[in-house]
Amino acid sequence: MATILSAEKIVKRFHENETVLNGVDLSISPNSFNVILGASGSGKTTLLNIMSGLLKPTSGKVFYNGSELTAFNPSQMADLKRNDIGHIFQSYLLLPNLTAGENIRIGMTTSRETSLPFDEITEMLGIDDILHKFPSQLSGGQQQRVSVARAIIKNPKVLFCDEATGALDEENSRRVIKLLHSIKQRYGVTVVFITHNLRIADTAERIITMKDGLVHQDRSNKAPLARKK
Ligand SMILES: Nc1ncnc2c1ncn2[C@@H]1O[C@H](COP(=O)(O)OP(=O)(O)O)[C@@H](O)[C@H]1O
Ligand SMILES: [Mg+2]
Repeated sequence: MATILSAEKIVKRFHENETVLNGVDLSISPNSFNVILGASGSGKTTLLNIMSGLLKPTSGKVFYNGSELTAFNPSQMADLKRNDIGHIFQSYLLLPNLTAGENIRIGMTTSRETSLPFDEITEMLGIDDILHKFPSQLSGGQQQRVSVARAIIKNPKVLFCDEATGALDEENSRRVIKLLHSIKQRYGVTVVFITHNLRIADTAERIITMKDGLVHQDRSNKAPLARKK
């Protein structure tokens, strides 16, 4: 099976006695939609941050496209973040003094040559008519779609989403999830999505459940997205 990202024996301790990750092994296939489920405190965010290079493990290795990400120097890490990785968080983290359009363009400035077409993305996300507005003038669902646009405009290989729909109502979270599936399909992005929401998990191709700092269950979904209408 092809792998774009893999974690090997990842251990993370923040304090002497508390081991948050207990030796996690996990491989992610290219162009797949993966959900990480698990109770609060089970180590989901810590694992995601280690796999995306935001956080160093206490021990263990992460490989991205065959290269050891955990051994990258600062300039390799900066390249990776600039070109290959997108992040979406529960809080939208839009800059309040920039318009929606300007916020999205922040995601493309550094790698303009490889960016996806701005108009195509904003149309697809249904935000092409609100680009002149400031974040405070937008609903939560609109703000999150702007932050999705900002994350994907650079055409990342992997999109990491940490409770990205956690602040949205059911209708808006369903809309964002559908869009992420379309983006995955259309641009070949690999999605790793943390959630507590079982209905969201049901849309994924693979559902990884964490418990006590380990992968407790790992299953593929026979009817991704199709089940959710
Ligand atoms: N920066 C940190 N410093 C100390 N402890 C942390 C830190 N980040 C997370 N933890 C602890 O690690 C455990 C797992 O946290 P986290 O990965 O955020 O879990 P989840 O995302 O599944 O809720 C929790 O007990 C949390 O308190
Ligand atoms: Mg978390």
